[in-house]
Amino acid sequence: MEFFTTEKKRAIEAQHEAQKIAFGPVVFQAVRCLRDLGILELVAESGVLGISLEEVYTKQNLSEYGARVLLEAGLGIGVVKIQDDRYLLTKTGHFILYDEMTQVNFDFTQDICYLGMFDLKESIVEGRPAGLKVLGPWNTIYEGLSKLKDPLKKSWFEFDHFYSDKAFPEVLPLIFKNKPKSLYDVGGNTGKFSLQCVKHDADVKVTIVDLPGQWGMAEANIKAEGYLDRISGYPINLLDESQALPKGTDAVWMSQFLDCFSEKEIVSILKRAADALNPGGAVYILETYWDRQKYEAAAFSLQMTSLYFTAMANGNSQMYHSKNMIQCVHAAGLYIEEDIDDIGVSHTLFRCKKK
Ligand SMILES: C[S@@+](CC[C@H](N)C(=O)[O-])C[C@H]1O[C@@H](n2cnc3c(N)ncnc32)[C@H](O)[C@@H]1O
Repeated sequence: MEFFTTEKKRAIEAQHEAQKIAFGPVVFQAVRCLRDLGILELVAESGVLGISLEEVYTKQNLSEYGARVLLEAGLGIGVVKIQDDRYLLTKTGHFILYDEMTQVNFDFTQDICYLGMFDLKESIVEGRPAGLKVLGPWNTIYEGLSKLKDPLKKSWFEFDHFYSDKAFPEVLPLIFKNKPKSLYDVGGNTGKFSLQCVKHDADVKVTIVDLPGQWGMAEANIKAEGYLDRISGYPINLLDESQALPKGTDAVWMSQFLDCFSEKEIVSILKRAADALNPGGAVYILETYWDRQKYEAAAFSLQMTSLYFTAMANGNSQMYHSKNMIQCVHAAGLYIEEDIDDIGVSHTLFRCKKK
């Protein structure tokens, strides 16, 4: 026990925290029911007066038993509190209901990760996304993205876009101050960033480099906005090391992309990106590193998201510590010319040049 003496936490608090872990999946599903059955919202609307159990089950058309077990669980979890037999919303309950980051993380956990996470141990031991079978018969989730059905598809894209959307307006001036005439948007996904590039700079031509299924989805969006003359597609599976990127671009852009690959694969992709650059060109890497976060909640979210990659996405990648990515950049024959933290919600931008 001497080992623990430097920790400030009291044993009784640590034991309480351990129970929240022991009942983790129960806690999650209880809060999901409180939210999705409209109970939390009803409690929120009752404000400082609070609401009785009877009012909750009557208004929500639930049994007394059902409303009671959920609300009592909510007390233990800390999303509601009780005063004079009336339930009130806590600050944590407020975040569950109204905080966008919590909502996208919550829905992503439920719709994409929950069932497959049961196979996390198998995924770690076997080095493959053993949980992915609950979503579809693919080697990686990216092969199946365009085939996912709602609400799964919606939850995946809302999770992805919540983070990257907030970063895009901030990075555009950083990229376009160097006036690139051409840009590869590697892992361009739905084409959101490419569209912002052509709207920001009247001259740039963009190529979306992504899996064939993704390009199909992006192409439809780009066509709808009338930019097919300036944004083209280059469908490719970059896991195949023999597939080069076409030579001759001023900028290669990778946003929330390299976290989909193992370190060995990242080095191979970065080498191919470096080979595609025109003289003076740059590779831009926008990522979320758990060691670069200001807030514990952000670092925690990223450490948990890593396990989505382990069990669901590909079995071998993660939300990296920045030192791992820096090692990959150097191993690929690049160096970091500019390193900017605090972009968007939690991103870091590396501008890399050839050594
Ligand atoms: C997490 S999304 C990032 C989307 C977007 N860049 C953003 O910042 O929101 C990763 C993208 O990488 C693509 N991708 C994954 N594996 C790939 C592969 N082996 N070859 C090419 N693209 C791949 C996926 O299809 C997806 O569009």
